[in-house]
Amino acid sequence: MSLQIIKPKNIIDLGVGQPDPNLLPTSLFQPLTFHGQDLAYGEEAGDSTFRQTLAAWLSVDYGKPITADQLIVTNGSSSALNMICAQFAKPGSTVLVEDPTYFIALNLFAERGINVVAIPMDDEGIQLDALDCALQQHQPAFIYTIPSYHNPTGITQSHERRQALVALAKKYQCLLVADEVYQSLYYQKKPPPPLACYDNDAPVLSVGTFSKILAPGLRLGWIQGEGAPIQKLLRSALLKSGGGLAPVTSALVGPLIANGEFQAYLASLRQTYQIRLDTLYEGLKTSMGDKLQMTKPEGGYFLWATLADGSHVASKLAVAEKKGVNFLGGALFSANQGYASSMRLCFAWYGVEELEIACERLAQVFRG
Ligand SMILES: Cc1ncc(COP(=O)(O)O)c(C=O)c1O
Repeated sequence: MSLQIIKPKNIIDLGVGQPDPNLLPTSLFQPLTFHGQDLAYGEEAGDSTFRQTLAAWLSVDYGKPITADQLIVTNGSSSALNMICAQFAKPGSTVLVEDPTYFIALNLFAERGINVVAIPMDDEGIQLDALDCALQQHQPAFIYTIPSYHNPTGITQSHERRQALVALAKKYQCLLVADEVYQSLYYQKKPPPPLACYDNDAPVLSVGTFSKILAPGLRLGWIQGEGAPIQKLLRSALLKSGGGLAPVTSALVGPLIANGEFQAYLASLRQTYQIRLDTLYEGLKTSMGDKLQMTKPEGGYFLWATLADGSHVASKLAVAEKKGVNFLGGALFSANQGYASSMRLCFAWYGVEELEIACERLAQVFRG
């Protein structure tokens, strides 16, 4: 991947799913005075003061009590997924994923020789009948799901779907891994709580990150869970040998949460992204009308749009480049090569003016 803060010239690239570099809060970060524990090998789970501060904020944001001992500090969600694969899957084992799903998670599973079986979604998330059949058929290492403001579809699992999903994981004693990257990027009402908040006796790990709510360069995130899955992760050679992850970054971010500066920044980010989402959604409705089918997400980064005539978006990529706009085709996200008529459009990377221009350009690309 190229350096993630350089915007290409002459093209508005709605394929980039990253924070706008102009919004990264450099002024929040002050030179750090180090304490011994910031520079030492730390606790396997991560610095305990930081985990307490993080737990206090998550309890408010999720509306559910979270404790420090339910958290392991990671280098972001990708690092957490990698750790989970290392501990819970072997080459040749199977992971059940949503169809479509985050394409880099598919890459990560492929790199480890893990097979994936894709389960269809509906507008409340992963379909449970299909999941139930697949659980019986494949005895998977785990289920991978993105419950809130799903990447790429923007779908948010309902409370009822979450309850039933966690119950299914418990029934089959199959680890449920929830990638909750966008959980705190809600623009109106909050989504239901992360899957790890539903049943302390179910094998669930929820993965969170500061990448989309503070800054991806921090490489800071967490895994939330209870009991055996968390204990297994804590026994990993990585954490035993290296101590907890990210002690210096934890020391930077902890005070920002404790003094409320992080929460104030996040509140302003939600407002900015809400305006950008409205701009892209309304702009496409105006410029493309019923040629495009879309459901407006209530948070996150992505608008998922499908060509009503069923034609394939990939055939238009060259024209799009000439017109100065780009998007990610839906097939990239599908382990079944489906969704060829859909595209993922990110509204976080660009400001309102560029999003308005992008809507016009997309209409030109798909006209006729
Ligand atoms: C679903 C999902 N998981 C993981 C990541 C990467 O997160 P991190 O930067 O914390 O590794 C992303 C970023 O695009 C994502 O959309």
